[in-house]
Formats: sequence, C-alpha cells, structure tokens
Amino acid sequence: MKNLLFLILLMTLTQAHSQYPYKLPELKYGYADLEPFIDSTTMYIHYNKHHSGYINNLNNAIKNSVDTAKSIFELFANISKYSDAVRNNAGGFYNHSLFWTILTPEKNTQADQFLQEDIQKTFGSMDSLKKLLNKAASSRFGSGWAWLYITADNKLAVGSSPNQDNPLMDASPIKGIPILGIDVWEHAYYLKYQNRRGDYLSAIWNVINWNEVTRRYHEVIPKPKGKFDDWKEILNFHELLSTSFHSAEKGNFAIIKSQSSKLSSAAQALASSKIPNAFKSPQITSILKSLASEAKTLDKLVKKKSSDKKIMKALNSTHEFFHKIVEECK
Ligand SMILES: [Fe+2]
Repeated sequence: MKNLLFLILLMTLTQAHSQYPYKLPELKYGYADLEPFIDSTTMYIHYNKHHSGYINNLNNAIKNSVDTAKSIFELFANISKYSDAVRNNAGGFYNHSLFWTILTPEKNTQADQFLQEDIQKTFGSMDSLKKLLNKAASSRFGSGWAWLYITADNKLAVGSSPNQDNPLMDASPIKGIPILGIDVWEHAYYLKYQNRRGDYLSAIWNVINWNEVTRRYHEVIPKPKGKFDDWKEILNFHELLSTSFHSAEKGNFAIIKSQSSKLSSAAQALASSKIPNAFKSPQITSILKSLASEAKTLDKLVKKKSSDKKIMKALNSTHEFFHKIVEECK
C-alpha cells in the first residue's frame, strides 16, 4: 500500500514532460549565465548534445511499444525489467531535466525554514550536508550522480548512483524522491576542470537553486498548516527575517545588507496589515509599531554603511520584537 501511494505521489509531481514523446525541457537561463562556475561551452554541449541525445535514444527505444503510454515514473518503478538502452536513456532524460532546474545564476537563493530545520536535524548543518554530498559525488567511481533525496518514510538522505541511475529506480540501492542531483559525469565538468572533480564540486554550490530544491522538498513534504497562514504579511516578514538573521548570527552580513530595505518594507506592511481577529490586542498593535520602527532603523544603519556590530544590534532588536509578537499570539 505504501509503495502504491509512493508511486501515485511520484506520478503527481510536476514535471516538464514525463511521458512519450519525451522532449528537451526549456533552459531558464543562458549557457553563459552560470559562469565562472560552469562554463558556457560545457552548458551548450551538455544540454544540446548529451541531454538531447538521451531523449532521442529513449524515444527510439520505446517507440511502437506499450511503454509509450507509461509515465517516466512507471518506467523507473520497473526499470530492472528493461534493456540498458531504456534504463540509461530514461535516467539521462529525467536526471538532466532535474539538474537544469536546481542550478541558477540567481544569488542568495535559500532553503526555507522547514528545509533548513530538516537539514539541521538530519545532517547537523548545511555545511555538513554539502560535505556529505561532495563526498558521495567525489567517491562515485566513474560516471554517476550524487543525490539529496527523500526516503519513503519522509527522511532526507544523501547517496550516489552509477551511470544514469537515480533513487526512483527499482534497481537502485538508494530509494526515494530526489530533490537535488549533482551530475558527476566528466561531460559535466571536464572542459573547464579536466580531472579536478573536487574543484567542480566546490564551485557548484555557488549556483545551486535552493528555492527550487525547497519547492521540490515541499512537493513531497507539504508545509505544515501554521497558525499564521491567514496573515500573509507576518509570514512574508518572517521569511525575510529568518534568512538574514541566521546568516548574520554566523557572521555573514551579505544577506541583511542586500535585503534591509525589503525587510523594512515588509515590517511597515505588517504593522499596517489587518490583524486576524484571533490575535487582535492593544499589545500586538504596539509591538508591531516598535517592530516597524526598529526595522526602519536597521535599514538606515545599513544604508549609512554602519559597522556590523551596530547592524547586528538593530537586527537582534528587530528579531526580539518579532518573537514578542509570536509570544503574544499564543
Ligand atoms: Fe550529464
């Protein structure tokens, strides 16, 4: 029963195109946009020659068969019964379709608080996760993939697979739904990095799209229904605060320096928002005003290029006002 539910879930996941005839998905950025971490020639060849090749081969391998009516997930669920041509090219189609989406030229994409907490609980920290993934990728002999995936009992896990296998395949020793995959075939890095797979693996973290990894995470593990779901202004403020506050606590002020005016606007929007009836009180209104004022001060300090110490003090104070609000709303 669990396996059946798992399969149904897989089949409902949003995919670019998950049935015959398989097509090359649109690349949402230019070939040169991931420079200097992934070079433009590699991107061009990887996408237009390798990925495209897997797709053509897969379509040819299953045309005129009943498999044209099956989804890619149904093929994966029984892949051990198929030829190597279907297995390798179906994997090649799916893995690369996922890979392009979890890369981005956008800076400062973030795992949301739920994924961050899960990563912390499972691996200890984001850095430990990166080390584990890099270890899985660097120790994969020959060609293959390293994965962050979600197991059937909703746990995060890290592993690797050979060739174009992936955790969705019945033949794979690691099983689950991948949410981040790193291509460690030489065609993914050789032109720029030659034999230095480690350098490619260090560089790739600069272009990982955590927003997309988070979206994929919540396709499998939905966001819990929170008490603030009907108060979008507080959720918006919290998201901005949590990403900038936790980085600043660790000495990284880049996010708060680039987001202080957004944070201040979100605090003003929160202070003037319609407070849900369940939380209305004179105390809440008063703390919301203080929060907006402190966020404004914080933004001014950032714009004046004040010291990190002063910025941290204002950020701490903003954070404390926010927690007073949460406390009052209990
Ligand atoms: Fe590849």
